[in-house]
Amino acid sequence: MKIILTGANGFLGQHASLFFANKGFDVYAVSRNESRIPFHKNIFYQSIELTNVSSVNKMVDQIKPDIIIHNAAMSKPDECEQNKDACILHNVTATQYLVDAANKHGVLFIYISTDFIFGENGPHPEDALPQPLNFYGKSKLMAEEFVKTFAFTYSIVRPVFIYGSYWEGMRPSFIQWVQQNLAVGKSIKVVDDQFRTPTYMIDICKGIEQIIVQKKHEIFHLAGPEILTPYAMAIQVAEILALNAALVTKVDSFSFPEPVLRAKRSGLLIDKARQLLNYQPLLFEEGVKLSFKNLL
Ligand SMILES: NC(=O)c1ccc[n+]([C@@H]2O[C@H](COP(=O)([O-])OP(=O)(O)OC[C@H]3O[C@@H](n4cnc5c(N)ncnc54)[C@H](OP(=O)(O)O)[C@@H]3O)[C@@H](O)[C@H]2O)c1
Repeated sequence: MKIILTGANGFLGQHASLFFANKGFDVYAVSRNESRIPFHKNIFYQSIELTNVSSVNKMVDQIKPDIIIHNAAMSKPDECEQNKDACILHNVTATQYLVDAANKHGVLFIYISTDFIFGENGPHPEDALPQPLNFYGKSKLMAEEFVKTFAFTYSIVRPVFIYGSYWEGMRPSFIQWVQQNLAVGKSIKVVDDQFRTPTYMIDICKGIEQIIVQKKHEIFHLAGPEILTPYAMAIQVAEILALNAALVTKVDSFSFPEPVLRAKRSGLLIDKARQLLNYQPLLFEEGVKLSFKNLL
């Protein structure tokens, strides 16, 4: 089976490229810049600007994939708030081009969305009312709406606060930020009044694999099983890696304001994925241990 995987240079993209290549899929990995993905014989890299409709059409016409996993995004909420036009272009327009190209070839379209399409009162089920609190969330919701309305065959996957292992050429996730600071004795301030269900990278990949194998064309929340604050996560990382947890200072969102509004109680419920996909995500502690297995 051939998969086009967009955003392949990103954090989820690199992990997913290797995951599906190891499972025997031919992965047509697509990102904007030079490849930063480790070599694998089943990964074929192309540098494509997804906001260019003729490049998108040419790519899909040539590859004729079975599946498109659309993971590329302008993924930093602060950048989206500061540059709304670019955010619409990368998160919505590029999605429209890819959906149109997928429809021409009868391709399954899997869209990677986010818990940011929701507001407060999480953790949310799949059919909760979307109420994005910032422009990034709005743009991802607009893309979701386009997929739901126009894609012939689709699934939508919503992860939360993704973490996992790290190698050179990748953007570090939250747990690496904690580890890197504490390892050099630097203190960090971390909020303790935002609740999330952090998602281990490989769990998302396994969930998507089940969507493909079981042909489940629906919306799924693929998140972790626990509700934690970033502060609680940072303390667990420190304890697992035997680093100095006293360097982690608890703050609240009022004393540590961010440029973009984020939900206090977010997170996603995963009962549907557990039932239909046999989704069995790891506890945060287990995921962190696997992410840092080279340090333990
Ligand atoms: N990280 C999280 O905690 C989280 C949580 C929930 C949902 N998500 C969703 O998961 C997906 C992946 O997130 P991530 O954190 O792994 O993202 P990321 O590290 O920022 O990677 C996104 C990649 O998309 C590529 N890209 C962006 N715009 C493009 C364009 N116009 N044309 C071609 N390539 C483009 C970039 O490629 P280059 O590097 O080559 O420029 C970048 O590497 C996103 O859809 C995000 O909304 C993420």
